[in-house]
Amino acid sequence: MEVQWAGVELLRMGPQHKAMGLIFSIMLAAWSVQGLEMSVGKIPFLQAVNGSTVLLPCTYLSCIGIQDLYFSWQFNDNGTMQKVCDSVIASELVTPHVNIYRERVEFIGKNIAGNISILLWNITFEDAGQYTCFGRNPKEKGRNHSTIFTLYVVDELRVVDNTLTIIIASAVGGSIAALMAFMLIKNFTLFVLAKLEEKNKECLVTSSGIDNTENGLSGSKADSKPTPKRK
Ligand SMILES: *[C@@H]1O[C@H](CO)[C@@H](O)[C@H](O)[C@H]1NC(C)=O
Ligand SMILES: *[C@@H]1O[C@H](CO)[C@@H](O)[C@H](O)[C@H]1NC(C)=O
Ligand SMILES: *[C@@H]1O[C@H](CO)[C@@H](O)[C@H](O)[C@H]1NC(C)=O
Ligand SMILES: *[C@@H]1O[C@H](CO)[C@@H](O)[C@H](O)[C@H]1NC(C)=O
Ligand SMILES: *[C@@H]1O[C@H](CO)[C@@H](O)[C@H](O)[C@H]1NC(C)=O
Repeated sequence: MEVQWAGVELLRMGPQHKAMGLIFSIMLAAWSVQGLEMSVGKIPFLQAVNGSTVLLPCTYLSCIGIQDLYFSWQFNDNGTMQKVCDSVIASELVTPHVNIYRERVEFIGKNIAGNISILLWNITFEDAGQYTCFGRNPKEKGRNHSTIFTLYVVDELRVVDNTLTIIIASAVGGSIAALMAFMLIKNFTLFVLAKLEEKNKECLVTSSGIDNTENGLSGSKADSKPTPKRK
């Protein structure tokens, strides 16, 4: 997703800055090849009626594998982060015991294919807000990774919500711009990634065949979306 952001910037910049932007993009692209990635999927928000039960999606992905991965869900309550649940996942194959700190929460992902989604039962208006899915993998020097999912709670579903329309419109527009920029830099990026491949050989070899540079890139393209901006 860093790649796309840099890509969008690339379109806006003058030619004198493009070279620098390109180098920057490549550095970020190389960065995203390795390490942990937390993802809430293509649509990072959900609008739901009070009283319903919702899934807050999140998955982790790491090409070097995980070991004692710490993850948590946090709710941003007016600026203070409240822990929703957390756990340490010993390996990809275990179903972890998850500590739950908030009522009506169920850990439904069960760590199946990196799935650490939670279910929020019978939501109230107080449940609306930003939920951060956080992960830290000791195998990569304990670097922090997180992504945000936003829950909107309404008393009935209305399509006339202007804010949401703007969010969707800007997200779609952003994706198209990002895609164009991506195509422009793709070949060059792949070339550099091919060079980096040697360096990251260990990473790529242990990735159980699901990841290579091409897949890694298109994967991050599909997942990414510029953070919607409210006008
Ligand atoms: C949702 O909120 C509205 C307004 O407060 C209330 O009338 C309604 O009963 C609530 N619905 C559920 C399912 O809780
Ligand atoms: C939450 O934020 C609003 C607006 O910033 C403020 O008016 C309110 O007092 C805050 N509530 C709490 C419980 O901190
Ligand atoms: C959700 O609401 C239903 C109906 O009111 C109730 O039966 C159920 O126990 C509630 N679930 C939770 C987890 O609170
Ligand atoms: C995660 O698990 C939940 C519950 O089984 C499922 O509904 C959801 O689709 C899964 N998400 C992904 C990305 O696999
Ligand atoms: C990672 O997050 C923890 C809090 O969860 C914080 O204490 C630590 O300083 C962070 N580390 C880095 C490198 O940002």
